[in-house]
Amino acid sequence: MRIYKVGGAVRDRLLGKPVTDIDWVVVGATTEEMLAKGFRPVGADFPVFLHPKSGEEYALARTERKSGRGYGGFTFHASPEVTLEEDLIRRDLTINAMAEDDQQNLTDPYHGQRDLDARLLRHVSPAFAEDPLRVLRVARFAARYAELGFTVAPETLELMRELTESGELEALTAERSWKEISRALMEDQPQVFIQVLRDCDALKVLMPEVDALFGIPQPEAHHPEIDTGVHTLSVLEQAARHQQPLTVRWACLLHDLGKGLTPEEEWPRHIAHEHRGLKLIKAVNERFKAPKDCQELALLVGQYHTHGHRALELKPSTLLELLQSFDVYRRPQRFEEFIAACEMDARGRKGLEQRSYPQADYLRGAANAARSVAVQPLLEKGFKGPALGEAIKRERLKALKAYKGAASA
Ligand code: CTP
Repeated sequence: MRIYKVGGAVRDRLLGKPVTDIDWVVVGATTEEMLAKGFRPVGADFPVFLHPKSGEEYALARTERKSGRGYGGFTFHASPEVTLEEDLIRRDLTINAMAEDDQQNLTDPYHGQRDLDARLLRHVSPAFAEDPLRVLRVARFAARYAELGFTVAPETLELMRELTESGELEALTAERSWKEISRALMEDQPQVFIQVLRDCDALKVLMPEVDALFGIPQPEAHHPEIDTGVHTLSVLEQAARHQQPLTVRWACLLHDLGKGLTPEEEWPRHIAHEHRGLKLIKAVNERFKAPKDCQELALLVGQYHTHGHRALELKPSTLLELLQSFDVYRRPQRFEEFIAACEMDARGRKGLEQRSYPQADYLRGAANAARSVAVQPLLEKGFKGPALGEAIKRERLKALKAYKGAASA
């Protein structure tokens, strides 16, 4: 049996990037031999094992044939006769299809190293089409390595487009898609992920609500970039530049979906886009079964981001409603994330990337003012039940009036 390091570990070592997990491929072995050496099988009919000590993945060299639609539609063929080259040819990208033995001798039959040097994400063979998730993977790698100058090879983009047109993307499960989307959003240049999906027409299938924003104008006075899709990409870019968490990045991507529904005769204005967008945000959330905190923040940011921008002009009663909607008393972190998303939205505009955003501190101050209202004195005065709730609200409103007064003095 011969054992090789494969995939990301080889790629990232050659790129000089840190290697986190290592995948191994085993040539010339049977399942029985692996079990005899103490490897633990990952699944019943999947030729992948975990090393008894390191826990790393060891896969028997295999060929894959697609036998049907979707991820279930695979048959694996693993046997001691399958060669390293046969295993590598079924992989997604040439830069992911290199192997290395324990002496660091490279096996690179599909010229991964050449493509690393040329900064190209290129598919290995037509077998690329056997897993439609690869459309998202390539877009994710493009986002990750954009700063190194990587781009998608034109013939690979074409194959991604064909795969999209064949309808295969619709067979992807929410879980597999979300895993790619969430990882891509956490890359340094997540806007590249969306751009590449758009370039191969996959965005139209995966998130038609986001795709629809391209070509929709906004008022130049607030949005020098004019195009709503371009703005969305810039907001996402800012979110990554400011190292925002996934929740904020997801909310940034979806915050303006309502602009896609504005009647054309109202362009470039988008009155009520906040409310109009909610059902679209909900649809995208559910399509990918996004985690609850991502779903919630995206909806709240969608509904209230313009409140954030107008924070300094809001009446105390409107400020209070905003704070109540966020339940800032029990969920302070979520409100911070809302503020961050608003700030990214304000900066994700051409030429305004460095602007200050005084709304952020103003909103924090307002939340503190409302939070500072103590409940105990009201209890002591004998308030209870709904009357207590009303009394707390009155006191908070008073605190916000004082806060606003002091801030504008
Ligand atoms: N692979 C593939 N097609 C997929 C998933 C994986 O061809 N849909 C192959 C690639 O050769 C890849 C290897 O399996 O390099 C390991 O996959 P994975 O661990 O998902 O990705 P990495 O390449 O290690 O990248 P990352 O750094 O994102 O984990």
